[in-house]
Amino acid sequence: MIRNFYQGHDPRGLAETYGSPLYVYNENILRQRCRDMINLCAYPHFVVNYAMKANTNIHLMSIIREEGLRVDVSSAGEAIAAIAAGFAPENMLFIVNGVSAEELEYAINLGMTISVDSLSQLETYGKINPGGKIALRFNSGIGGGHHEKVITCGDGTKFGIMPEYIPQVHQLLAQYKLKLIGINHHIGSQNWGDLFLEGAQELLNIARQFPNLEFIDLGGGFAVPYNKQDGEQPMNLQQLGQSLDKFLNAFVTEYGKNITFIIEPGRYIAAECGVLLGTVHALKNCGQSRYAGTDMGFSVFARPTLYDAHHDIEIYRKNNAPLGDKTEIVNIVGNQCESGDYIAKERRLPLLQEGDVLGVMDAGAYGYSMSSQYNHRQRPAEILIQTDGSIRQIRRRDTFEDMLQNMRM
Ligand code: LLP
Repeated sequence: MIRNFYQGHDPRGLAETYGSPLYVYNENILRQRCRDMINLCAYPHFVVNYAMKANTNIHLMSIIREEGLRVDVSSAGEAIAAIAAGFAPENMLFIVNGVSAEELEYAINLGMTISVDSLSQLETYGKINPGGKIALRFNSGIGGGHHEKVITCGDGTKFGIMPEYIPQVHQLLAQYKLKLIGINHHIGSQNWGDLFLEGAQELLNIARQFPNLEFIDLGGGFAVPYNKQDGEQPMNLQQLGQSLDKFLNAFVTEYGKNITFIIEPGRYIAAECGVLLGTVHALKNCGQSRYAGTDMGFSVFARPTLYDAHHDIEIYRKNNAPLGDKTEIVNIVGNQCESGDYIAKERRLPLLQEGDVLGVMDAGAYGYSMSSQYNHRQRPAEILIQTDGSIRQIRRRDTFEDMLQNMRM
């Protein structure tokens, strides 16, 4: 885990005070990750839009805003949360995928920049807001990610306008007198630099066909080292930044205009500042397999169930008692009624005991934001370890009454 994550707090004590399971965030790490991205490039017109789908807690987002990031939103609901976190709509890019005319109208009225990703949505936009400004998401053909479900570019994905439709794009822009101010793409999630650059080159090839752009948004997807216990190292940002600077500058010279370049990291900003704490309640053998049953079902943390995602696990034992030298292969599972409900599959760990508190590392991105109330389980509380080491609760746990409220007609 990242050194000094708990800043002297005992994770068991936190789980006891605020309830298990519990999301714990560290403000220093969050701020550092924002600065890593802001300083990625020397290119002077470089903007970082936080992809808020990774974590929409408005208290974390207001820290992200303080660090100078803007925001990428994917729904009207996210826009409302971003406003609550203090972001101005003119600093938001609304990247839509098949939304209703009502949602587009809402975004137009708020004053956000909107990027549409199909000819049909371009036409819908043109009808609602003729003469308006618009951005377009392209499918530049290069895609990659940690799992096929998170690859968002290339064949077999639903995203972006394929470049062969550029003539129709020009026709619709002219028909509705729309001003194309930017283009964007997003290749996918958890990519390590080279593919990002390859994708960016393809997007710039598309940009060459539109001479009056104000911005080019290269998307997000920057990888974080989830396998720290196996020695996995972070991305080499210095190298990436230098390569990026080189070709952005070359492009701008050729394009003849100082346009803004945007990136949209979500996971890189939010993953490593978050740990999910949960408790072991049951130990058992079923057939050849060993299971540790915890309160961290996939309603609390869905990534392992959805994508077979790996997260390092730490064990916090009562009174700091030793974990012992013996290890075994164990499946750490949740408390939900599906066999796919697990946090770690066939993991070699010290022998677990009932009452052990477990830390699921790097859980700050796509953790709480993908949680649900399946099985009528409460979504957990969230707390923040602030820069001075003090704790601030930034979300309370659902109550059972909260969960009934929308059904009381
Ligand atoms: N921009 C766009 C248009 C996106 O759709 C996404 C993520 C991002 C930026 C940020 O990607 P990031 O930097 O966080 O990789 N739930 C999955 C990840 C899905 C990402 C969807 N789009 C997971 O837990 O791995």
